[in-house]
Amino acid sequence: MMLTIQPMTPDCARTLLAWRYPPPYDLYNHTVAAADLDEEIAFFCDPEHHYYALQTEDGHCVGFACAGEEARVPGGDYSLVALDVGLGLAPEWTGRGLGAALLQSVLHFLAGGYPAPRDRVTIAAFNRRAQRAAERCGFAPAGRFSAAGGMEYLVYIRERSEEGA
Ligand SMILES: CC(C)(COP(=O)(O)OP(=O)(O)OC[C@H]1O[C@@H](n2cnc3c(N)ncnc32)[C@H](O)[C@@H]1OP(=O)(O)O)[C@@H](O)C(=O)NCCC(=O)NCCS
Repeated sequence: MMLTIQPMTPDCARTLLAWRYPPPYDLYNHTVAAADLDEEIAFFCDPEHHYYALQTEDGHCVGFACAGEEARVPGGDYSLVALDVGLGLAPEWTGRGLGAALLQSVLHFLAGGYPAPRDRVTIAAFNRRAQRAAERCGFAPAGRFSAAGGMEYLVYIRERSEEGA
C-alpha cells in the first residue's frame, strides 16, 4: 500500500485531532475545545511547526509526523545536535506491524529536508510498542527523564549513515 507524506493539511489536522486511543495510549489524545479547533488546525498547518500528513492514495489521513521542537517533551535534555522526530498513526492503524516501516519512511523523507548528524525520538517509558518500532529502525536508548506530571520518558538516538538515510 502506498502512503504519501506531505505538509500537514487542514483536513488531516482535523482528522488527527479527533483520534481517540484506548488506554494506556490515551495520553496521545488531543483534547481541544470546539471553540479552539480552528486555531489548533492552523497550528498544525503552520510550516514553522513542521507537521506532515501521512495519507493513502485516495487522500485518507492515517498518520502524521513532526520534526524539531514539536517532537520534544519539556524536561528532556536536547543539547545534543539531532533532528527530533515524532510519529503518530490513526488508532485503527496501530498494532498491525506497520510501525518500523512507516518510521523508516518518515526518517528517510525528513533526512532530505532536515540535515542533522543524527535523529532522536522521545517515547514514554511504558510505550514498548513505539520503542520496538524505533529499535527496529536502529535507534538506541540514550537517556531517561521525568516530565512535569511524573511521566517517564526515554530518549532514543540513531546516527545517520553517510548516505543520510
Ligand atoms: C508508535 C506507533 C507508530 C508504532 O506503530 P505500530 O504499527 O502500532 O507498531 P507495530 O504494530 O509495528 O508494533 C511494533 C512492535 O511493538 C510490539 N508490540 C505491540 N504491542 C506491544 C505491547 N503492548 N507491548 C510490547 N510490545 C508491543 C510489536 O510486536 C512490534 O514488535 P516487533 O517489531 O518485535 O514484532 C503507533 O503505535 C502509534 O502511532 N501510536 C500512536 C500513539 C503512540 O504510541 N505514539 C508514540 C509517539 S513516540
